[in-house]
Amino acid sequence: MGGYFISFEGIDGSGKSTQARMLAATLAADGHAVRATREPGGSPGAEEIRRLVLEGDPDRWSPETEILLFTAARRDHLERVIAPALEAGEVVICDRFADSTRMYQGLRAPGLRAIVDQLHALMIGREPDLTFIIDMDPEKGLARARGRAGHEERFEDFGTELQARMRLGFLDLAEEFSHRCVVVDGDRPPEDVAAEVARIARERLHG
Ligand code: ADP
Ligand code: TYD
Repeated sequence: MGGYFISFEGIDGSGKSTQARMLAATLAADGHAVRATREPGGSPGAEEIRRLVLEGDPDRWSPETEILLFTAARRDHLERVIAPALEAGEVVICDRFADSTRMYQGLRAPGLRAIVDQLHALMIGREPDLTFIIDMDPEKGLARARGRAGHEERFEDFGTELQARMRLGFLDLAEEFSHRCVVVDGDRPPEDVAAEVARIARERLHG
């Protein structure tokens, strides 16, 4: 029995972390062995790269360098955490994965999306079995994200215009990868979003 790989995607403040946490608790209560993790990060090496990439000046890295850093972090995370958990038959729930690189780096200039996909094919070569795209109005998402204290602000600093492009990009991605992506309306009470997410995850896991 192989495991099952679920990712959460969406703009900053859409509620991914909240929903990932709630689904992990639900599936664990159902009796699944659940491994909850996140990107960038999820393994000690990848968490070090997270600090490099999320702290500091917004112009610190070019989008090309970011593609390399996020993919390096993902490779370590995949090798050391995700792949072993899947081999052990666990349900892996990951807060962001490669779709975030397709959006946050791939949409920043013409041609970058193709580079993200090439590097992904070369170094990662694995997609989630199921991806929840939490859809959210960018203004509301950003207001939510800003409500959290912290110094990981590089991408949030890009503001609502980039967030609006990301939102449309994520909806396009859901059509491009329609076999694994499900769009969920995030502008509802967390429990309502979680109920829909749990229903879909159970259907896919057991159906
Ligand atoms: P993300 O991981 O997508 O950035 P979070 O889950 O961290 O989003 O949520 C961002 C903020 O919004 C948190 O303070 C969280 O408590 C709050 N939040 C999450 N989901 C909802 C929701 N459905 N309605 C209102 N607030 C929410
Ligand atoms: P995250 O901690 O999930 O932020 P949030 O909870 O605000 O959504 O991710 C941190 C930032 O990293 C977020 O702004 C998106 C960005 N990011 C990329 O630019 N590329 C990537 O490949 C990943 C995984 C994240």
